[in-house]
Amino acid sequence: MTNKKQVLLEQIKADIVENNICPDLAREATNLVMGDGNIDADIVLIGEAPGKNEDEQGLPFVGAAGKFLDTMLEGAGISRSDVYITNIVKYRPPNNRDPQPDEKEAFWPYLVRQLDAIRPKIVVTLGRHSMEYFLPGRKISEIHGQPKRIPFGESKIVVVPLYHPAAALYNGGMRATLVEDFNKLLKIIEILKNEKENT
Ligand code: URA
Repeated sequence: MTNKKQVLLEQIKADIVENNICPDLAREATNLVMGDGNIDADIVLIGEAPGKNEDEQGLPFVGAAGKFLDTMLEGAGISRSDVYITNIVKYRPPNNRDPQPDEKEAFWPYLVRQLDAIRPKIVVTLGRHSMEYFLPGRKISEIHGQPKRIPFGESKIVVVPLYHPAAALYNGGMRATLVEDFNKLLKIIEILKNEKENT
């Protein structure tokens, strides 16, 4: 199973390069940051786009926001090595500007393929850039921390929208909310597993 997933994920990476996705970003980037972690994970976390550190190391969430993310995962009883982490846009936008709509759109099909390959129990979106593709028109301030079951291709997927760790890093109120929401994740998975067993 894992081996098959690895092959699928490698193919997605090769296709991004082959199809010359976002050539302007690719030209400036050091690395294509596909994702990192356990490909058999129950939880996939999706951020916005790599920053400077991520671009240099080729890994998602390894800078200040990443350290904060690690702390919150640990506090929630989740090991970073148990989850899979990726971004909607997989090259660093210049000067860490927000990813643009056409960039998100260009990378979206590849994110869908990653999720199809990994098949997690829940998808956790970090910030509005990844949330808006799964839950268009919804406001993060109104639905953060709430699991939403949505159609996804032929099946359904459960999305839990959370604030972005970088936004919460220096905002005490948002920080407390984000920590609280992270602490709900294991419970949400447990409920989903029980639902499945009882159907
Ligand atoms: N912020 C993101 O959204 N993604 C990263 O990988 C790092 C910071």
